[in-house]
Parts: sequence; structure tokens; C-alpha cells
Amino acid sequence: MEAGELLAILVGLLLLQVGGFALFGLWRRRRQGGDGVAGSQARASVAHGPSATIQPNDDDGAPPGWSGLRDFVVQRKVHESADRSICSFYLAPVDGGLLPRFRPGQFLTFTLDVPRRDRGGTEPLTRCYSLSDAPGRDAYRVSIKRAPAPPDRPELPPGRGSGHFHDRIEAGDRLAVRAPAGRFFLQQEGDTPVVLIAGGIGITPMLSMLGWLLERDDKREVRLFYGVRNGAEVAMGAQLRQWARDHGRFHLHRCFSAPAPEDRLGEDFDHAGRVDLALLRNTLPLRRQQFYLCGPPPMMESLVPGLESWGVEPEDIRYEAFGPASIQRATPAGVDAETPPPLITFSDSDRAIPWDPAAGSLLEFAEANGVEVTSGCRAGSCGGCQTRLRAGRVAYAHPPDFEPEPGHCLLCISSPQGAITLEA
Ligand SMILES: Cc1cc2nc3c(=O)[nH]c(=O)nc-3n(C[C@H](O)[C@H](O)[C@H](O)COP(=O)(O)OP(=O)(O)OC[C@H]3O[C@@H](n4cnc5c(N)ncnc54)[C@H](O)[C@@H]3O)c2cc1C
Ligand code: FES
Repeated sequence: MEAGELLAILVGLLLLQVGGFALFGLWRRRRQGGDGVAGSQARASVAHGPSATIQPNDDDGAPPGWSGLRDFVVQRKVHESADRSICSFYLAPVDGGLLPRFRPGQFLTFTLDVPRRDRGGTEPLTRCYSLSDAPGRDAYRVSIKRAPAPPDRPELPPGRGSGHFHDRIEAGDRLAVRAPAGRFFLQQEGDTPVVLIAGGIGITPMLSMLGWLLERDDKREVRLFYGVRNGAEVAMGAQLRQWARDHGRFHLHRCFSAPAPEDRLGEDFDHAGRVDLALLRNTLPLRRQQFYLCGPPPMMESLVPGLESWGVEPEDIRYEAFGPASIQRATPAGVDAETPPPLITFSDSDRAIPWDPAAGSLLEFAEANGVEVTSGCRAGSCGGCQTRLRAGRVAYAHPPDFEPEPGHCLLCISSPQGAITLEA
């Protein structure tokens, strides 16, 4: 071979390699959220505990999830609590296709068509609801609690999404649904005993985990601490009692903070009071166990740090809050307290506010400052908080499950990388 030919081949190979690296770089940037989103930063997620990086449907040969919205029909609507505040909806795909499996603990995202509050007509509303049944059934099930006005603000309107489900959705109705998602799910391998802690409607992901753990040949010991006010609020009480009777390795602890006169200790409930650290310490054997928590923000804010202070390793504590919660807030790595905070401009609201790293995410920062933003999962999975980023860059706490449109970012998992302008 001539020296010239050899040189040409070498140069060609070099160009191929450079091109390959460039394409790989572009692909990685796109995976990390497109324009304006810097590489994912490692920092504590606000509403979610340590999460696995495995994607759903990657190990069971089941059909993968779908992208975008898919139409489902409501097969059945079932009341699940004596006070009729919780309703289950069984959902089957309208296209008759296969139902992708999911990981116990994951949720569905709904785009609802709800009546406008002040004007006529309807508008879309994004809401997330945990799958409350074990994977592998013929239909998905979600169980939804009606959200009344807060007790101290009775003049406020009740919850829109949950009210829509309870008052307007019936068997035969159609719903637009995104594929199962979420990072709060049961670790399906291993033999470490499992402790599930649920407050109120936080029972829904636990029901899915329990169904999966108890209806298969899994040897793990499982405890459920379920906190409600009284017997009228218990969801699927008969199912829980049946599981406790049928499975010696399942221990049920129903905790009533305000038992009704007809609630009998030892029959209808097992502990008077809330689920707190003292109860866990008095009840649980001293050994390694994996904790899964889901409940109202105050419960999560006390129990998650409480378990850590008791000596439970952070990787053995997984949690999900169904609303804003401030758990384990830490100043993100790389933030220098001496540097003046960058300015966050909300262009639609005509406001510019210095960033507060203690806020957690840009979503919480906007909410704390009265800027109107929408949200759903608060975990980068549903796209509910997608917002146009008009200038600057943000970083994600972890790679999102939802791919935002170019030029947009997901506020719930974003923190600013310098001054930014958001269309909000
Ligand atoms: C991952 C995930 C999973 C979830 N799983 C479940 C589940 O399995 N089951 C379930 O029931 N829920 C679940 N949720 C919660 C659910 O998504 C909704 O947040 C819940 O149903 C309330 O939504 P809403 O539209 O009914 O209430 P919203 O309309 O969002 O109102 C919420 C509350 O705010 C009050 N409010 C109204 N206006 C104002 C105002 N101006 N100022 C202050 N307060 C006001 C309302 O009265 C109500 O109490 C989950 C949430 C997440 C993020
Ligand atoms: S609220 Fe769901 S992606 Fe941000």
C-alpha cells in the first residue's frame, strides 16, 4: 500500500471517530432534557427517597409502556371506605391492546377535562394516581380520595381532580392516561424484611406492593403500619384482614388517631395514636429492614429523618409524598453561600426573585413565591410542570422519565445554573 493511501485511511478513521463522539454527545444532551438543561446533579430529591435507576418493564418480558396519552375505559367504580371518601376505578385500554406491567408503587398520570372554575367550558388538568393493585391483572386500578377544602379554610373550593373522578366519572367513561411511571417502587429482589408505612390515602402504593409480595412465592416478612383517624376512613379493610389471616409473614398494624366510639381496639384497630417513631421502635425487631413510606407531608417530614436518626441507612428508606413536602432539604452541591443568588425571572408574572437554594426545586420556589404553576407527580415523570425556559440553564436532580419539549424544562426537578427566565 502506498504511503498516501495509508494516510488517507488513517485520516478517514480519525474523522469517523470524531463524528461518533459528536453524535454520542448530542444524544446524551438530548437524554438529559434538551436545550438549557445541564447534566443531572446528584442531590436529594425533595418528594422522593433514594430511587432505583432500573426502568419498568425491563426484566419481565411484558409489553413496554406507551408514549403520550392512551384512551382507557372505566370498567368499574367501587367505593372502598365506609365514609365513601375513597373510590376505585378499574381501567382497560380502549384499543384492546396488552396492558403493560408496572412496578408495585408506580402511578398513572391522567389528563382530565374538567369544567373551568370561573368561565364556561372545560380545561385540561394533570393529576397522578398510584396504581393500587398488584401488576399482572386484566385492568389497572387507581383508588382516589376526595380532597375536601382544608379544615381551616372551608370557604375554599374542594379538590378539582378528585372531585371530578368522584362526581363525574362513571363506568363506561373514557380517560386519557400516560403510561405507568415513578421512582417509588418496591425492590423486587432480595430477602430483607419490608416495612410499609402509610398515612391516609398513602395506602394506595402499599396495596400494590402488598398484593405483589403476598400473592407470589416471596419469603420476605412484611409489616404494614397504616395510620388513619378512625374505622370509617380505612380503605379496603376486608382485603387487609384477609391477607393478615392468610399469610403468617404479614403483620398488620392499624393505627387510629381518633377512634370512633364503635371502633374496637384489637378488632378494628391495633394501636391508638399516630404512626410515630416511638411505635416503630417498640414494635419492630432490631435488624436490617427496608422501609417504604407514603403519607401526608407532616408524617413524612417527621418519620423520614426520625428513621435516619434511629440508625436506618438512607438507602433502606424510600418514600413518596402525594403533595409538597420538605424532606431532608440540603443546600445543593456546588452552591456557594458567599455568591449572590441568581435572579429567577418569571416573565408572565412580571417578577424577578433571587433564588433560594433551600426552596428545593424551581417548582417549590415558584409556589413559595405565589407564582402560579401547574404540577402533577413532582418527580419528573408526568410533564405536568413543563415550562418554557426563555433564558439561562437549569440542572436536573435526576434524569426525568418525561421528555420535555425543546426549550422547556421540568420545574419539579430543576434548579437554576445562574440567572434564568421562565415563562410562568
Ligand atoms: C405520585 C403521586 C401519586 C398519587 N396517588 C394518589 C392516590 O393513589 N390516591 C389519591 O387520592 N391521591 C393521590 N395523589 C394525589 C393526587 O394526585 C391529587 O393531588 C389529589 O387528588 C388532590 O388533587 P385535586 O385536584 O382533587 O385537588 P386540588 O384541586 O389540587 O386541591 C388540593 C387542595 O387544595 C385546596 N384548595 C383549593 N383552592 C385553594 C387555594 N386557593 N388555596 C389553598 N388551597 C386550595 C382544595 O380544597 C384541596 O384541599 C397522588 C399524587 C402523586 C404526586
Ligand atoms: S410535576 Fe410531573 S414532571 Fe414535574
